[in-house]
Amino acid sequence: MTDQIATPDDALRMTVFGTGYLGATHAACMAELGHHVLGVDVDPGKLAKLAAGEVPFYEPGLQEVLRRNIDAGRLRFTSSYEQAAEFSDIHFLGVGTPQRRGEFAADMKFVDSVIETLAPLLTRPSVIFGKSTVPVGTAERLGTRARELAPAGADVEVAWNPEFLREGFAVQDTLHPDRLVLGVDRDRPGRAEAVARQVYAALLDEGITFMVTDLATAELVKASANAFLATKISFINAMSEVCEAAGADVTVLADAIGHDVRIGRRFLNAGIGFGGGCLPKDIRAFMARAGELGADQALTFLREVDDINMRRRTRMVELAREACGSLLGSRVAVLGAAFKPDSDDVRDSPALNVAGQIQLQGATVSVYDPKAMANSKALFPTLTYAESALAACDGADVVLVLTEWPEFRKLLPSDLDGVVRRKVIVDGRNCLHPTDWRAGGWVYRGMGRP
Ligand code: UGA
Repeated sequence: MTDQIATPDDALRMTVFGTGYLGATHAACMAELGHHVLGVDVDPGKLAKLAAGEVPFYEPGLQEVLRRNIDAGRLRFTSSYEQAAEFSDIHFLGVGTPQRRGEFAADMKFVDSVIETLAPLLTRPSVIFGKSTVPVGTAERLGTRARELAPAGADVEVAWNPEFLREGFAVQDTLHPDRLVLGVDRDRPGRAEAVARQVYAALLDEGITFMVTDLATAELVKASANAFLATKISFINAMSEVCEAAGADVTVLADAIGHDVRIGRRFLNAGIGFGGGCLPKDIRAFMARAGELGADQALTFLREVDDINMRRRTRMVELAREACGSLLGSRVAVLGAAFKPDSDDVRDSPALNVAGQIQLQGATVSVYDPKAMANSKALFPTLTYAESALAACDGADVVLVLTEWPEFRKLLPSDLDGVVRRKVIVDGRNCLHPTDWRAGGWVYRGMGRP
């Protein structure tokens, strides 16, 4: 666990608006750096949990950081914007920007609502650091609006400080990021950079790269980073389709091309594709925004990236059908529901999407996930949920591994031999050893593997 690295002398007071994955992690980690932090949210349920030291979602290591800093008196939570405006002149904005219903564009209502409510309360010079993933142009718009609404007027700054944390590694990524990026308003040079240097002093001492850009570039850094990652995954999944057609093995192909440092092996894992609360909606919002700016042609390839990604889910359903003969009346075990391991997040989860499609085609689907059961039940109440991996596999005609949790990677064919009806396993994340399963008398199918 990280040590407390800032001394009380450089401690600042700051607020963090939004206590989801991003906001809660940022608030706890800023307190871990020694700062005094007030987390603000409109959801009383979430606030009560956090104040009691409970993280409302599963994120390894976060609970310890949260508790340690609440106990140290550096971290508190409130729903009161008045209290927040009184508490500090440094505000971080980390609320969600989900996909708008029926559209590709991001829904900015949570971001806008923070500014509309907070700005009228800003009576002293203040800096608002946006961390949410937003369409390019948002920071400038919010800055103008905040200055219109705030009694402090021109002394209110909006800067953009995008967040690159991954779920499952949120604490590590926040305290030891690859880089810090800060977009500042070049037309109105203010205190934002100096304040950010104080906030992140401990990270800068560690030698972490700090890039100061204009507002639009900072916003685009985030959008393009996620677009690149999504593209990398869809690239390897496209190769997976070709491997399937040609009888080649995409995992070996990925290892081989990954040795080229220009390509790199990370994010080249073929399987049922990307999901979660970020990559899918971020590439869509990026396309929508480029369209508004008249640069839609530049990002038409992201439509293909999205299509390749969605096709992998369909392919998984086909593989399950091939394995069963017909899905109608078959029993399908689904191991994994979270969009990736070490998370209980099921937003746009490929695993749950596949489970749902298979059930709609007449199979009985039994799902097990080590952490995401409650969220899965809330999103897909009609699926059957099992208490354990073995229980999910009971009497199964096919076992589908859809999230690569360590627990599933460690499964041995002999663990399931007497449990299933037919010894057929489809590895949607290419995370098992085909030779072991075949040697155990199982039919093994991977994605993009012979
Ligand atoms: C992603 C980015 O990686 C973060 O840098 C970013 O800050 C975050 O979105 C965000 O915008 O908030 P995250 O959604 O936590 O982070 O998850 P990733 O680790 O990127 O995985 C996304 C999806 O891609 C998962 O469903 C994962 O299973 C899938 N994936 C990942 C693959 O299918 N293959 C791979 O090789 C890697």
